[in-house]
Amino acid sequence: MQTLVSCNRPLALTLVVALQLLLIAALLHLGSCNAGDRITKLPGQPEVSFGQYAGYIGVDDKGKRALFYYFVEAEIDPVTKPLVLWLNGGPGCSSLGVGAFSENGPFRPSGQVLVKNEYSWNKEANVIYLETPAGVGYSYSADAAYYQGVDDKMTAMDNMVFLQRWLEKFPQYKGRELYISGESYAGHYIPQLAEVMVEFNKKNNIFNLKGIALGNPVLEFTTDFNSRAEYFWSHGLISDSTYRIFTSVCNYSRYVSEYYGGSLSTLCARVMNQVTRETSRFVDKYDVTLDVCLSSVLSQSKILSPHQQVGQRIDVCVEDETVNYLNRKDVQAALHAKLVGVKNWAVCSSVLEYELLNLQIPTIDIVGALVKSGIRVLVYSGDQDSVIPLTGSRTLVQNLARDLGLKTSIPYRVWFEGQQVAGWTQVYGDMLSFATIRGASHEAPFSQPERSLVLFRAFLQGRPLPETFS
Ligand SMILES: *[C@@H]1O[C@H](CO)[C@@H](O)[C@H](O)[C@H]1NC(C)=O
Repeated sequence: MQTLVSCNRPLALTLVVALQLLLIAALLHLGSCNAGDRITKLPGQPEVSFGQYAGYIGVDDKGKRALFYYFVEAEIDPVTKPLVLWLNGGPGCSSLGVGAFSENGPFRPSGQVLVKNEYSWNKEANVIYLETPAGVGYSYSADAAYYQGVDDKMTAMDNMVFLQRWLEKFPQYKGRELYISGESYAGHYIPQLAEVMVEFNKKNNIFNLKGIALGNPVLEFTTDFNSRAEYFWSHGLISDSTYRIFTSVCNYSRYVSEYYGGSLSTLCARVMNQVTRETSRFVDKYDVTLDVCLSSVLSQSKILSPHQQVGQRIDVCVEDETVNYLNRKDVQAALHAKLVGVKNWAVCSSVLEYELLNLQIPTIDIVGALVKSGIRVLVYSGDQDSVIPLTGSRTLVQNLARDLGLKTSIPYRVWFEGQQVAGWTQVYGDMLSFATIRGASHEAPFSQPERSLVLFRAFLQGRPLPETFS
């Protein structure tokens, strides 16, 4: 991927007048400094009227580390719509493959072609899908030593540098209302990114950050993970006696601590074996009611279910459309993407050695600080997810509201999409809210696209979710 003219460097200063004129001509021809990233057309794509861009932003000063993004402008009136950054979790899974091509992007791969997603989030916003940290998807570090021990802090810093430089490349978006949204381990990425942005803004106010939306997020490891036992039990996935030992002998947070700490006790191993046997490998933990085939989506939060990584993982999918699509050479050329240090594009990184004990860092406190600094927060839960169940998230938001002294402004009630109940919601003060999405999985926009779009729109507009049918 080449950019003909760098936006940041005063090249012209060093050039003679004639060359300056040439440069100006080139700039006029290019229109802007992001023209090299413009996507003419993705292979198999239906005709669309919105702009698409993809390419790299270098995030270090040595030119070795670069993050890959895919940017879709809003379908209608992009100039008046906010800018949204979408992040998937993992850690180490791709926002391009999962977010853009399976959840809320404009297209979904189907065989050789792309099918339009009628509930794409670019109906409401200009959306950037970022593959982060380096080592995920097409993002890379030319120096592979970087991949050892990447942690939350490094990721947050790279993500901020990315945004800063992206805005230089797309100056028309400077000062635009900015939101960050994502799911799962992005419950770590997003609050920590927002925190460094708020800090940066104190010196140089460049991010017009308005709000964050977190879907089935990891916010406080023990509450989130231990809510799994009751979810399994109440949905019939484990027996009464297994529930008893899973909440007394060894609970899930203890198991995960031991597992990632490299000291799994026989006691916890035995409890988890029993839990795993009863819940069965053939039930999708990210959506306990659906028999869906989604190998890509399944692996998104692999670290959130470490026992599934032990031994073989059954992949019920014959093939994975997204993996096939993003490994096509013509697709990579259209996206201005390249593979550095890896043979294939993968949904979740195989090179990244993420600091997994970072899972235990509580980000709910950071969320509290963000609310205090005037950033709107929505925590939403696909209610069929057993990996980060709604009950844990609801408790965490409720407790946060109490700690911040926020009164309930909208008591727990249903919300509608069309003529059906689309979930439940509660709002605290005017900055903090919680919502469930009924019938949705861990990847809510995948399994409930229409309801998710209604939720996304309300979030951006700062309005309560629909209270009556339409
Ligand atoms: C989980 O287990 C740990 C260690 O045994 C214990 O400290 C903690 O209170 C337990 N949490 C829950 C919710 O049971």
